[in-house]
This record gives sequence, C-alpha cells and structure tokens, in this order.
Amino acid sequence: MRRTIIAGNWKMHKTTAEAVAFIHEIAPLIQDRADVEVVLCAPYVALYPMRDALAGTTILLGAQDVFWKTKGAYTGQIAPGMLTDVGVSYVIVGHSEMRGRFGVPEPDFDETILRHFGETDASVNRKLKAAFEAGMTPICCVGETISERKAGQTDAIVSDQTTKALEGVPADLAARLVFAYEPVWAIGTGEVCDSDEANRVCGLIRSTVEKLYGADVAAQTRIQYGGSVKPDNAAELLAKEHIDGALVGGASLKPADLAAIVQASPK
Ligand code: 13P
Repeated sequence: MRRTIIAGNWKMHKTTAEAVAFIHEIAPLIQDRADVEVVLCAPYVALYPMRDALAGTTILLGAQDVFWKTKGAYTGQIAPGMLTDVGVSYVIVGHSEMRGRFGVPEPDFDETILRHFGETDASVNRKLKAAFEAGMTPICCVGETISERKAGQTDAIVSDQTTKALEGVPADLAARLVFAYEPVWAIGTGEVCDSDEANRVCGLIRSTVEKLYGADVAAQTRIQYGGSVKPDNAAELLAKEHIDGALVGGASLKPADLAAIVQASPK
C-alpha cells in the first residue's frame, strides 16, 4: 500500500514570517489526516525557522534543490548535509523550471542571458544519489513540453528522463524514491492534465521502474502528479490507480487550498 504524499512547492514565494504563519494556519486543518504524508518544499532561507514551527505536527520539511557535493568552493550552492542539518527530509530534484523547460513564455527570461538553471539528466541523477546518501528522499520531476506532446514524444521523453534519473540507483532506494509527473504545459497555466492521461503517464513511469527493477520495487515507488492541481480537481486525480499524490505549486501558497487538497486524498 503506497501512502499518499502531498507536497507543496512554494517556488520563490514566502518570507520566513509568512512561512511560519502558514504552518500555524494549516496544521489544525489537516491534523485528522495523519494517513497522508504532507511536505512543504520552501525556499532555503525559510527552512530553519520552519523546523521549529513544525515541531508537534506531522508535516515534513522539503527543499527545492540540492547540489551533489558535500562541501567546497561552489558559490551559491547548498550541500545535502546542510539540508538535513535543518531538518529537511524531502528534496525536489529536476523540476522543469530548473531544467529550463518553461510552459509559459517568460518575456523577461532572455535565453541569450540565462538559458536555464543548468539542470540536465546527468545532474538530476547526481543530485538524486547525493540526496539519498544524506538520508533524504528525492522527489524527481519528469515531464514533456507542449511541443513534445504535440509531436507524440511524451512517452519517449518521460521514460527516458525516468531511466536516466535512476542510473546506478540501487533497488532499495528506487523503491523509496518519489517521482512527480509534471507535464510542463500544465504548470502554472490552470490547464490541468486530463486525469486518465495523467494516470496513463504515471503508469508508464511505473512500468519503466518495473523494467529496471522488477514488479516489487515498481509497486512501492510513489508517483505524484503535478501541474495546476487545485482543490476542485484533486480528488479525481488522487483517486487514480497510479497517482499516489500531488506536487502542488500555486495552490500550495494558501493554507486552506493545500489543506483542501490533503483532505481530497483517498482514505
Ligand atoms: P502549479 O501547481 O502552480 O501548476 O505548479 C506545479 C509545479 O510546478 C509544482 O512543482
């Protein structure tokens, strides 16, 4: 039985005070759903004050990225051990915004200045292994862009990203890993993926894991859907066979919305 995991990805939102206030507001709204794993993936600087605010709740702390080195001259980077030091247990790896795969055109994101944040399948793989090494659980994002979907490449892209992320990862860790299927065109657009199609692609991720590790591991790996998950579409998505949770962006910024998504999880 796979435990439902709802993770909020706050992206570049919330000050430390706002982050702490959020915890105080959401905790009573979800305290009857200890069956659901709830993770808040916050900006780095909010993590430390959040740890204290989370004491006495079942909510877990997550980060949005990690570097794979343990220490050294890597200006601007955060090591895995720095995250576990402040109580982080989950970390998002390979988000499409890190891979430079944007769904919504960004007029001020001049690609000649900053193509993307440099994420590749190889760096995703390294980050994932480093997160495990430090005792965290990675949430590994995969998903196609709209042009890839229109060209009929969805399945090839998703299974390729899944396979490359898992290169050299042993079976016991693959079983613990969380994947997030995030079709890039559904992120921040309000255009949620049809629930049957989301379930189909999540099933494809599971069968990719099965090909690599066998049915036992594939039955344990949890797969979230992400992309315009809202209180009013969460129940339908979360009821699907291969969808074990949600990675929530915009709707995770308001305690009542995220709580409603947690409450929409099947019992
Ligand atoms: P939205 O829920 O805002 O579409 O964002 C999804 C996402 O990117 C979560 O990682």
